[in-house]
Amino acid sequence: MYKIVSKEILNVDVELMTVEAPFVAKNAKPGNFLIVRVDENGERIPLTIVENDETSVTIIYQKLGYSTTMLSRMEVGDSLHDVVGPLGQPTHIREDAKRILGIAGGVGSAPLFPQLKEYARRGAHVDLVIGGRTKEHLILVDKYKQFCENIYYATDDGSFGTKGFVTQVAETLYQEKTYDLSIVIGPLIMMKNAYLLNKRYNIETDVSLNPIMIDGTGMCGNCRVTINGKTKFACVDGPDFPADGIDFDELMARQGYYKEQEKHICNLRLEPKK
Ligand code: NAD
Ligand code: FES
Repeated sequence: MYKIVSKEILNVDVELMTVEAPFVAKNAKPGNFLIVRVDENGERIPLTIVENDETSVTIIYQKLGYSTTMLSRMEVGDSLHDVVGPLGQPTHIREDAKRILGIAGGVGSAPLFPQLKEYARRGAHVDLVIGGRTKEHLILVDKYKQFCENIYYATDDGSFGTKGFVTQVAETLYQEKTYDLSIVIGPLIMMKNAYLLNKRYNIETDVSLNPIMIDGTGMCGNCRVTINGKTKFACVDGPDFPADGIDFDELMARQGYYKEQEKHICNLRLEPKK
């Protein structure tokens, strides 16, 4: 069960894995996520279902800490201990949105992919602004080319496309094009800034949130987010939400809570790969 059928290194930080998980695969819709554990004592890792067929699911992970590094050490033919899903609400498709701009920052290109693909499948015109630290950090570009009408690139170091952030490229674009909806996924600060930009141009914004999750079923409260003064749980009410009213500053403050513990665990437990 949960055998790894393929694995691809996308860049120095990010990898793609396809895993046999028939129940999850059959029932997954764009926007759903799953939780994997590498072994029975493993931390629960929530990941967007990027693609699925009848029997397998594709996930993309960034090697950030102990658990994702352990996941990265698994090879084709190995099996994950468990895969739970599909979890969360499928993306709410806005039927009246016909001109969509996806804005992807770094590894945020992974959760954005199934959403944009679904809009394109339904006949919307889809453009993409994709950004990363360097050219190497622009992931899934060939897959996006299969359905995006135009792709605009930004890199922090100028190694490909415009030198600068995705928001700069989007703002230039807004001088000549108009969109009904922008779906923005990446670091919180990028989603906040893109939302504020879109608001100035009267463009609706949807985002995907990935606060710390534990159970993924609405029980632990870790993934809470304040939207228009009300508490929502990203795992059961999201992870996709309209950006209007999200308290991004609170989310950013909470994101760093466990950084020191994570560093400590990595130092204690992460032995070199044999
Ligand atoms: P990164 O820090 O390399 O940034 C990616 C791009 O985002 C940059 O190249 C730039 O174009 C844009 N960006 C960064 N700061 C910006 C700013 N201040 N204003 C405007 N644009 C800005 O990203 P990364 O290391 O690939 O991604 C890691 C982050 O993405 C983590 O914080 C992770 O939590 C988040 N993430 C979010 C989701 C989600 O579903 N929301 C999924 C995966 C990862
Ligand atoms: Fe526990 Fe959402 S992950 S409530």
